[in-house]
Amino acid sequence: MAYNYLTAEQAAELINNGDVIGFSGFTPAGCPKEVPSAIAKRAEKFHAEGKEFKIGMYTGASTGDSTDGALARANAVSFRTPYQSNKDMRTSLNTDGGTEYFDMHLSQLAQELRYGFLPRPNVAIIEACDLTEDGEIVLTSGVGISPTIAKLADKIIIELNSRHPKTLRGIHDIYEAQDPPVRKEIPIFTPSDRAGSPVLKVDPKKIVAVVETNRKDEVGGFTQPDEITSRIGKYVSEFLTQEIKAGRIPASFLPVQSGVGNIANAVMFELGNNPDIPAFQMYTEVIQDAVIDLMKKGRVSFASGCSLTVTDPVLQEIYDNMDFFHDKLILRPQELSNNPGLVRRMGLITINTALEADIYGNINSTHVMGTKMMNGLGGSGDFTRNAYISIFTTPSTAKGGAISAIVPMVSHIDHSEHSVKVLITEHGIADLRGTSPRQRAELIINNCVDPEYRPLLREYLAMASKGHTPTNLASCFNMHRAFMETGDMRNATF
Ligand code: COA
Repeated sequence: MAYNYLTAEQAAELINNGDVIGFSGFTPAGCPKEVPSAIAKRAEKFHAEGKEFKIGMYTGASTGDSTDGALARANAVSFRTPYQSNKDMRTSLNTDGGTEYFDMHLSQLAQELRYGFLPRPNVAIIEACDLTEDGEIVLTSGVGISPTIAKLADKIIIELNSRHPKTLRGIHDIYEAQDPPVRKEIPIFTPSDRAGSPVLKVDPKKIVAVVETNRKDEVGGFTQPDEITSRIGKYVSEFLTQEIKAGRIPASFLPVQSGVGNIANAVMFELGNNPDIPAFQMYTEVIQDAVIDLMKKGRVSFASGCSLTVTDPVLQEIYDNMDFFHDKLILRPQELSNNPGLVRRMGLITINTALEADIYGNINSTHVMGTKMMNGLGGSGDFTRNAYISIFTTPSTAKGGAISAIVPMVSHIDHSEHSVKVLITEHGIADLRGTSPRQRAELIINNCVDPEYRPLLREYLAMASKGHTPTNLASCFNMHRAFMETGDMRNATF
């Protein structure tokens, strides 16, 4: 079929106020770039004429600035899910009257769209590196929810991006689960198994426009591991090495999932460089720079993920050496990369980052001072709850020591004490398995809390009421209050 090749501006004219759009990709990897920016301009034009123009927005996870940033600055998004990390989108969703945002477990979005729990996306905008006349789409560096939005949408707009080579064909594993009551087991038993097809197949008649581009993914850089993140990484390696020695992790090791951000990148670096840990496979959500580096060194033998969230030079290196990487990488929809059943089946070692933890092991991954959304919980819940062993890492303090990342009670809860098995900071390891809340509090204060904050937390624990979980409802947020009132948690009193 001959497609309608349009400019991004012409394609944006196909979008109307009130449309619900599903975007391809996962993180800035594999997201469309030209059409979202053009939709933002169209929204600005409508607003200047005093007319309404807002879209509903589904993505795999975060996106790049030309999607989330441009649309947020244009005040063009009525609602948004499941994850974001853009400065302007963050401001919008933390502002009354801004974007209505709901934070979701990433593995669940596709099925909740199919179940009809959420407004149906009527438009899908999908980045591809190749497209055939009979509707075969080869996706690019991220998959996200593309199979589901392509199926549910009436109209599909393709951004055909020549920045991604056609040799990516074969790297994807496109599969959509059937819905209950007829769902069957997903035939993945090790990270390198494949369940689906290398291409996304759609009805070509639904493709209303093809927009050509060669724009790069907008993945930001990672900060180099520093003393604190390196120490955290070393403790993670030390903990896992001890587990192998104790026979609780097989000597051949287990597949690893690692979270997003700078800390996760630094932890992977340390893990991969520890000679006591054998070369390992990853079954994860984002494949970041450190994983590719370890793959080149033979330390990571295989990685299955939802996206190549790597900086541009690293992506270029992968594309220049596809012969090497092709049989070591698989990119899948997040329904598979984050699938709780597969996480449990394969026995993943999961390593995610907390924004805040409490002395009982509850984790807040998302809300600053209980109120302001940072990014979202992403896949951390998909993995943590179902892990072979779930680890959370965090630097013990933030903002130059004015914030203790460990507090009497988390100000928002994403992962409960029941799912969190190990907490690690630059000061040490708290192995929480088989411990009561009182024992956990002792372990976390002694091993993980910054020494400057230990007396304060001991004081809290001593005066908390003496139940199964010692808690003082009147003062459990005193450290947060001290920060909000004086700018420093060290000023808290109990
Ligand atoms: N209170 C307030 N702010 C805090 C804080 C706390 N307890 N702890 C950290 N911060 C701030 C840092 O100061 C930093 O702020 P800045 O950007 O203004 O400097 C910011 O949070 C990010 O911290 P950083 O140290 O750069 O960590 P990171 O890049 O590794 O990100 C998370 C950490 C928690 C934000 C990130 O991992 C995340 O969004 N996690 C949730 C999703 C997830 O786990 N996904 C993985 C599943 S596969």
